[in-house]
Amino acid sequence: MERVKLFDKTFRIFIPEKKIEEAIDKVADRINDDFKNCEDIPVVLCVLNGAIMFTAELMKRLTFNCELLSVKLSSYSGTCSTGNVRQVLGLTSDISGRRVIIVEDIVDTGNTIVELKKMLAERGVAASYVCTMLFKPEAYRQDVGIDYVAMEIPNDFIVGYGLDYNEIGRNLKDIYVLDQD
Ligand code: IMP
Ligand code: MG
Repeated sequence: MERVKLFDKTFRIFIPEKKIEEAIDKVADRINDDFKNCEDIPVVLCVLNGAIMFTAELMKRLTFNCELLSVKLSSYSGTCSTGNVRQVLGLTSDISGRRVIIVEDIVDTGNTIVELKKMLAERGVAASYVCTMLFKPEAYRQDVGIDYVAMEIPNDFIVGYGLDYNEIGRNLKDIYVLDQD
């Protein structure tokens, strides 16, 4: 599909599935290199709902033993970040002393990542790393480095591959960008 309509807005194709999968292959290779032969069992922390598709594809490619946990946060309303991160669904097990790989769909302002890293530090994790499918460098306003970025994109609103516009569009297998005209 070249264009999709979600509620009042039209989106045009931006990153086809094949390109997304190639980028996931590459980022998974990097993580595998860094974690190969690890003696601990790192936790892969999926940030729901947006990262669900990316986490699934990433995990299939990981070659070391890892555990999956999920957390649900919310900061977006419509097409804008509210800058106010809420925890909607918390962690269900004790992860103190563990290494955690946070898996995000997109890092925009970085508020979510900073909040989450703070929350994990309070819970006594040994280390936390961030792996994101998409990164908007122009919107990012934090000092913390993002460890693994699959793709960098300009500061535009996008949907698909797990990302939503007011909760719809997550099922699109390609990534779409808001059509300006
Ligand atoms: P941040 O806290 O500003 O970095 O925003 C992170 C969260 O906002 C992401 O996990 C997404 O759920 C959402 N988000 C940011 N940019 C977009 C976008 O372009 N489309 C859809 N959701 C987005
Ligand atoms: Mg998200």
